[in-house]
Amino acid sequence: MKTLNFAIIGCGGVTLQNHLPGLALCPDTKLIALCDSDPITVKKARQVTGAAVSSTRYEDIVTRHDVHAVIVATPNFTHMPIALAAIAHGKHVLCEKPLALNAADARAMATAADQAGVRHMTAFTYRFVPAMRYLRHLVARGDLGQPRHYRSCRLQDWGTRPLGWRQVKQLAGTGELGDMLSHRIDFAHLLVGPMQRLVASLKNLTPLRGNQPNDTDDWVGILAEFRCSATGVLESSKLASGHNESWRSLDLVEINGSDRSFVFTTGAWNELQTGKAGGPGMERIPVPAEFWRWPGSPRDPHAGDPLVTFRYDQIWEFVDAIRSQRPCDSTFHDGARVQTVTDAAVQSAERHAWVDC
Ligand SMILES: NC(=O)c1ccc[n+]([C@@H]2O[C@H](COP(=O)([O-])OP(=O)(O)OC[C@H]3O[C@@H](n4cnc5c(N)ncnc54)[C@H](O)[C@@H]3O)[C@@H](O)[C@H]2O)c1
Repeated sequence: MKTLNFAIIGCGGVTLQNHLPGLALCPDTKLIALCDSDPITVKKARQVTGAAVSSTRYEDIVTRHDVHAVIVATPNFTHMPIALAAIAHGKHVLCEKPLALNAADARAMATAADQAGVRHMTAFTYRFVPAMRYLRHLVARGDLGQPRHYRSCRLQDWGTRPLGWRQVKQLAGTGELGDMLSHRIDFAHLLVGPMQRLVASLKNLTPLRGNQPNDTDDWVGILAEFRCSATGVLESSKLASGHNESWRSLDLVEINGSDRSFVFTTGAWNELQTGKAGGPGMERIPVPAEFWRWPGSPRDPHAGDPLVTFRYDQIWEFVDAIRSQRPCDSTFHDGARVQTVTDAAVQSAERHAWVDC
């Protein structure tokens, strides 16, 4: 099998946590090039990975003939120019979420990737939690009946610490909305289908973080109506004191249908709660072992912390889609669809009104 040569643009947090370990597990792939605008960061990453080439300019990397696929893991405002440059040079692209700063840009990225005939993937990493994949399977199989309500709650405790580019609207687009809620909007689309309209509130409770201005939302709440007539309540906060930061904090999704309800929490990676309409109450059900890793993934589901390692399957999905010449799970179109909702949420919060998605 031909070796797939990878380049990674952006060698910060998510690259270290998700992309490098994920790629290392994929046979017949090679990380050959790295880019970070910070010379110290890129030098360190090159030392750790042994990548042959590095640069502080992404243009030097995405134009290389020996690079087949590019991972874009930079701050949000840079996703579009980097991804478009990579696509223009015929590279397959996995881009971090939120895909762009607005839906029009995200759609332009999806169109460009389709026209170039390259594989494109938005990093909706939580699709890879085993319990989420099993829930998706059960809902698609019809176990839920007609969807009635979708509910998601993501509560984290980031306190008032500085967040770098994440606290600057011009660089991040939005705060908690694009950062954490984008994944749960994607779940809603997967489980219930497209949203029809919404009303949203965004709250900035920390105008200063680390003595620097923060003009992004720390908290977001959305009330939604789906096209299938189900309703949705989505909430996400960086300021839920005591809830811990990162993956040990509360991350709950509940879906109520005419036949059953299901509850999924990222923390309980291999179980769901479910209850039958008119039944005695909710019970825990195990996620079957065949769902513990993505189909075909080389990852050993017993190795490492399962709350971390499910993320490694994401690169496997990208690699497998490139090799099988099929759409990735999920595409740039999925990223753009989420961005349409985030745009609507921003507009709704500004206008204090319901907005069509
Ligand atoms: N899918 C997920 O679960 C997940 C998790 C965390 C972050 N993210 C996303 O990943 C992206 C990066 O987040 P992070 O936490 O790694 O941020 P980070 O700040 O830790 O890392 C970003 C890196 O990009 C570099 N950079 C900035 N501009 C650049 C440019 N023009 N060219 C090359 N390098 C550049 C920075 O120097 C930095 O090293 C964001 O879009 C974020 O939303 C996704």
